[in-house]
Order: sequence, then structure tokens, then C-alpha cells
Amino acid sequence: MRRYSRIAGTGSYLPPRRLTNADLAAELATKGVETSDEWIVERTGIRARHFAAPDVGSSDLALKASQRALEAAGLEASQIDLIIVATSTPDMVFPSTACILQHKLGNAGAAAFDVQAVCSGFVYALTVADAMIQSGAAQRALVVGAEVFSRLLDFTDRTTCVLFGDGAGAVVLEASDEPGILASDLHADGKHVGILCVPGHVSGGQVLGDPLLKMDGQAVFKLAVGVLEDAARATLAKAGKTDADIDWLIPHQANIRIMQSTARKLKLPLDKVVVTVDQHGNTSAASIPLALDSAVRAGQVKRGQHLMLEGVGGGFTWGAVFLRY
Ligand code: UT7
Repeated sequence: MRRYSRIAGTGSYLPPRRLTNADLAAELATKGVETSDEWIVERTGIRARHFAAPDVGSSDLALKASQRALEAAGLEASQIDLIIVATSTPDMVFPSTACILQHKLGNAGAAAFDVQAVCSGFVYALTVADAMIQSGAAQRALVVGAEVFSRLLDFTDRTTCVLFGDGAGAVVLEASDEPGILASDLHADGKHVGILCVPGHVSGGQVLGDPLLKMDGQAVFKLAVGVLEDAARATLAKAGKTDADIDWLIPHQANIRIMQSTARKLKLPLDKVVVTVDQHGNTSAASIPLALDSAVRAGQVKRGQHLMLEGVGGGFTWGAVFLRY
């Protein structure tokens, strides 16, 4: 009998400070940076985002999301034997945010490591956890996407600083005879490093290079709409399913126009797409588990339904996971 991994519970957390587009525009105006609610909504679909307080790190957001996912799964942290955190905004250069989270959860002993695939990080992490559970290397995994992207933003660059937010989402995956994750498909093409990056790095006690986010938005947009369709189709083919089997598309929440385009290509009506970009902005690796948990708690996503999770982002990386919830 095939051994699957299935989602036993989901959780998420947003830091309390919420800025609407109007709030952010007013703050940016004090720096001489001009933007508007109208431009942001029309070009991105974003209406608000949350920013973490300066003393709050990704592991703090991850802890709250993880506690909620564990509670939903009816499990204690001590029952988890694998923790994977997808983040591009780790608390420290090392050790991993997963180790810091593990200590905060109080479950010494579980394997713990981070996955760095920027906005595709959650689908990468989920795929690794699924493979480890299928192989018998793990029984119960906590898979988290957690980000404080506000730390990387250049608040004098209106083309990027209005797009991102902070938050965390988590799932508990456990071994099961019932599906579960049915298929996944991951890719990267490193020749596109320059179109979305934070080029700074630590060396000799200093930060060398620019530690703020740089993005060629149009180049990212064009690549994203192509690869998201390809990844969804490849994943469906591996699972022996078709477009018609998707109950919910839960894409990376970067821009409503990218999500609409993907849905059109997959012949899915927009009411089958989970949308949280309007309230969260782009939370990078946290966006998919945040959207998933929001949809589960809102009663949209129900047990037995088929979900297509899709990520795309810096690297360039992209991928999809198709699962029965
Ligand atoms: O998570 C990783 C994935 N990232 C993404 O998926 C991002 C993908 N890219 C995008 O979402 C879009 O390309 C953006 C939202 C970043 C930009 O939208 P766009 O429709 O491609 O706008 P644009 O870059 O072509 O800019 C159009 C105009 C420009 O003015 P001019 O040159 O036409 O006079 C910009 O300067 O809009 C201007 N603009 C703004 N105006 C007001 C750019 N940012 C802003 C702003 N407020 N915040």
C-alpha cells in the first residue's frame, strides 16, 4: 500500500500592525515618494499588508502559526519529528530559523532545517517533507513559510515597497494510507538571479552590497504567468488528473493579475481561486500557507477537495503541489 503524507492541520499568523494602501501612501509621502491606493489596487489587487514590529523575527511569526496548526491537527509539538521552515528572511545568518522555532516550540530532537527558494519556498518545503514522509524518514512534519519581508524593502522605491508584507503560515503533514499529496513539480533557472534579488551579503563583519530588494517587475511578471501554467499541468499529469479535478487553486499571492491569468489558462473560474493578496500583500514563502489556512478557516476549502498550490519567485524558482485535503 502506498504511503502518503496528508495535511492534518493548518495555521497562520499576521503581525498586528496593518497598513492600508492609504496608510502606506501617507508614510511614503513624508519621504517624497508618490503612490496611491488607486495605482496599487489596479496594478496588483493589494489593499493592505501587515508589518512586524522591529523586535519580531520570522521565528516569532512561525511559532504562532505553528501552534495554531498543531492545535488544528490535535497534536503536541513533541509528536513532530521534522521541521522545515521556508524563509528568505531568517532570524540569523545561522543557525536556521527552523532550529530557533524548534527551541521555541520545545521539541528538541526533531530534524530541523530551512529551505531557501524565496516565494516558491513553501512548495519546495512541502515537497521535501512529503518525500521524507513517503520514504519513512519522517512521520509527522511541521512545514512553515515565515517572512518579515518589510526588513528588505527600500521605502524610497515605490515599484517594490508597496508590494510586500510580513506573516507566517504552517501545516502539519503526517503519514497516512489515504492521500494526501498526490504529485509535485519543482523547477529553477538560475540565469534569472538578477531580476529579483537582495544582493547584499555578510563578509568580514560588514554587510557588503545592497541589502535591499531589487526587482524587475515586468520580467518577473512575464516569467511567472508562463511557468505557473506549465507547473500546474505537469503536476496534474503526474497525478493522472486534469484541470477539471482542481477544486481550489491556491497560488502564490503576488499580484491578482498573475493569479487571474493562471486561472484563465487552467480554465478555472475565479471563484475557484483563493485570494488573500488583497489583505496580505506578497508575503513570499508565507503567502501560500497563509492563503490555505485562511480558506480552511473560512470554510471554503473542505476535506476531500483537491487543491493546486503554486509558487513562483526569486531564483528564478517555481513549482506546484497537487493534493487531496
Ligand atoms: O513574489 C515574487 C513575484 N513578484 C511578482 O510577481 C511581481 C511581478 N510584477 C508585478 O506584479 C508588476 O510588474 C508590478 C506590480 C511590480 C508593476 O506593475 P506594472 O503594471 O508592470 O507597472 P510598470 O512597472 O510598467 O509601471 C507603470 C508605471 C510607471 O510609470 P511610467 O514610467 O509609466 O510613467 C511606474 O513608474 O507605474 C509607475 N509606478 C507607480 N506609480 C504609483 C510603479 N510603481 C508605482 C507605485 N505607485 N507604487
